[in-house]
Amino acid sequence: MAVENWVDLGSAEELSSMPLRQVAVENRELALSFKDGRFGIVSNACNHVGGPLGAGRLDGDYIACPWHNWKFHRCSGKGEPGFEEDAVPAYDIKVEGGRVLVDMASASKRTRKPHPPHPLARKVERAPGPIRVVGIATSPMDEVNPRFSGSDHLLRHALESCAVYGAESKLIRLSALKFRACEGYYSKSAHACTWPCSITQMDESDQLDRVYEAVVHWADAIIVASPIRWGAASSLYFKMAERLNCVQNAITIRNQVLIRNKVAGFIVVGGQDNIQGVAGQMLGFFAELGFIFPQFPYVAHSRGWSSEDMERNVEIVRESKELAEGTSMLAKRCIDLAAGLIAQHQAPTSIERGGRKAHSLEIERDAGSV
Ligand code: FES
Repeated sequence: MAVENWVDLGSAEELSSMPLRQVAVENRELALSFKDGRFGIVSNACNHVGGPLGAGRLDGDYIACPWHNWKFHRCSGKGEPGFEEDAVPAYDIKVEGGRVLVDMASASKRTRKPHPPHPLARKVERAPGPIRVVGIATSPMDEVNPRFSGSDHLLRHALESCAVYGAESKLIRLSALKFRACEGYYSKSAHACTWPCSITQMDESDQLDRVYEAVVHWADAIIVASPIRWGAASSLYFKMAERLNCVQNAITIRNQVLIRNKVAGFIVVGGQDNIQGVAGQMLGFFAELGFIFPQFPYVAHSRGWSSEDMERNVEIVRESKELAEGTSMLAKRCIDLAAGLIAQHQAPTSIERGGRKAHSLEIERDAGSV
């Protein structure tokens, strides 16, 4: 049996003033709690991806991790009912002479309940076969009462033409998916924003996994279509883009590049203007994810500032052979570039310094400690 090693944490009166806090003892980070007249102390590092338990909150006698809400008993360290095998180290603690003492030699074992990896977490490997194109329609739409959407309409043209160029295609309409907005895990810590997305891992009903599956694993090229809303891409576009932060963050914190040899093109349709601003933002974002662009990577249309007659705009987009042909050629450029990249391995196989983040990041130095 290990020799006891009682360490004085401080005055019981002072330490009982907060239900939960982080304390550092002999180079270890611990989560100290006080509830119903009793102290508890466990490791500060969550079993999931290392969230700081002492910065979480108490839910009854369980500490809820501040990153993704995994729960551990504040005294035994065991996971919540059903997850007892998932335990963080717990320590003996006592109060003597008004002082709180922890036995640093008494740590119980950290144990992990096996969690099968999420299917999206598998290695990204291109399956053999023809070039594959996914179209992502971002126009918000009442699914029960659909209306004509210029950007959707042109995207369908682009995808229909894929077969002509020997490619497979599929369409994902964001308005048909139920998915949560990004809840800002990255704002807590870069490590809290995980791949696969934390929400996708926690919430089986969240349907953005279909976008991740198509974009990261299935497609060689993507075409994203958006209307312009007040000079910006659609709200659903941004709702998706925020959830794609996990794809970019994997590069930032682990040099894990999920998008390689993949091509992105865009269709932007507005009633009035700001096409270049919207397209520029989309290009910048998808470049950050690792996509490569064909020459002339977007097709766009708008009627201009003085044209409030949207009925006419609909008619123009619906009838325009030029726009349809233009989106078809955009699809061809994407397919041709994707085929060339795959055949010749033109994309870099690693992201060397001087790439996206030239500076060495503090976060990388911390990465091994979680
Ligand atoms: S729940 Fe603790 S790190 Fe995810």
